[in-house]
Amino acid sequence: MMNAAIMGYGTIGSGVAEILEKNKETIRKAAGQEIALKYVLDLREFPGSPVEDKVIHDFSVIEQDPEVELVVEAMGGLNPAYPFVKACLLAGKHVATSNKALVAAYGSELLEIAREKQVNFFFEASVGGGIPIIRPLYNCLMGEEIREITGVLNGTTNFILTKMDEEGWSFDAALKEAQRLGYAEQDPTADVEGHDTCRKLAILTAMAAGKEVNYEEICTEGITRISDRDFQYAKKIGMSVKLAGLSRLGKDGKVSACVAPLMIDKAHPLYTVKDVYNGILVKGNMLGDTMYYGSGAGKLPTASAVVADLIEMARHKDENVKMGWTLEKQELAPMGANEFRYFIRVSGQPEERLADLMAFGPREIISIGQPEEFAIVSKVMSEADYQETALGLEGILSVIRMLA
Ligand SMILES: NC(=O)c1ccc[n+]([C@@H]2O[C@H](COP(=O)([O-])OP(=O)(O)OC[C@H]3O[C@@H](n4cnc5c(N)ncnc54)[C@H](OP(=O)(O)O)[C@@H]3O)[C@@H](O)[C@H]2O)c1
Repeated sequence: MMNAAIMGYGTIGSGVAEILEKNKETIRKAAGQEIALKYVLDLREFPGSPVEDKVIHDFSVIEQDPEVELVVEAMGGLNPAYPFVKACLLAGKHVATSNKALVAAYGSELLEIAREKQVNFFFEASVGGGIPIIRPLYNCLMGEEIREITGVLNGTTNFILTKMDEEGWSFDAALKEAQRLGYAEQDPTADVEGHDTCRKLAILTAMAAGKEVNYEEICTEGITRISDRDFQYAKKIGMSVKLAGLSRLGKDGKVSACVAPLMIDKAHPLYTVKDVYNGILVKGNMLGDTMYYGSGAGKLPTASAVVADLIEMARHKDENVKMGWTLEKQELAPMGANEFRYFIRVSGQPEERLADLMAFGPREIISIGQPEEFAIVSKVMSEADYQETALGLEGILSVIRMLA
């Protein structure tokens, strides 16, 4: 039998406790032994709950109990998640977390400590909730050079954009509905400004490259400027708009990574990723495309991924599984080097404006019957070329990069 402790009995922590109880027998078979919950660390008491007698408030109880070999971190944020997780690893305990902020900020150091201490630091649930994506990257795809990762990684923004696309809602109305349904927080900044997607993309990119990726270097743009009008144009050309994280390995060994709303064609596999679902497309040099799809959040789907980490830890209780990345820094290409076609919506009419727009090499002119505006689709351009060409051009109403 192995003893486990859960730090943070909120949505995910309570889900982990529930699965450990409900799937006890399945977990025992998979892990080769029982995984027993010994402590639940939280700020509150939980009278009447199944873990009532396991609740503690002092972290040092977990840290100093040699019987606790497995720890789940589900508190969120960096403080005290970071010092607590670090202390657990230093004390020779395995740790599983669902906390992408922690992994993106301190993953390199925590992975290094886990290696030194011959324990494991796992974080399957930190990206894509219940979707298996971390383990496939270091396990099933271990013989591949990962060329490209494109992910719709944030369920909240995907829900908002789906409402705008399919029901013609405004951004504000869709955000309010997401908040009403509990998908978006009262302060939705981390989601709608792309910060959440950015951290997840940094983790996936670091997994693929085997090197540390600084999420602060990833150029990140949110969805607040996308309007219902943009969706009318997208629809006219058989496309939709999704907030995506994109990272590509260049021939020079640099990785170009960005987070932005992207126009996606109907034929693209990510087009069908709707509502709160997540989808991640991984391109390997031998394998070609693989797609990972499912519930990107939610209590039981996410907790299920944490429990899988616990089982993996129990199976490798005396060894550090080779996964993750090193302290070596992955160089990122400057945003200006990224290439896209651009959807450019401008005021005026084609006959009076096209001469100004020729430098974009317009491949398509799109009208939705509005007398005062139209849009073009540019040739493939580097971001630097696009920015230089657009400089000083009047009447640009919106610009959206397009996924090739
Ligand atoms: N919810 C999801 O669908 C989902 C999906 C994927 C990943 N995640 C990640 O999983 C993590 C947890 O998310 P969640 O939704 O479960 O959050 P949550 O419901 O807010 O749960 C966090 C729990 O930790 C407790 N806590 C906070 N600070 C603590 C401290 N210093 N000591 C002990 N307990 C403390 C909180 O207590 P109080 O309530 O009393 O503050 C709360 O019970 C986050 O990193 C999140 O990003 C969540």
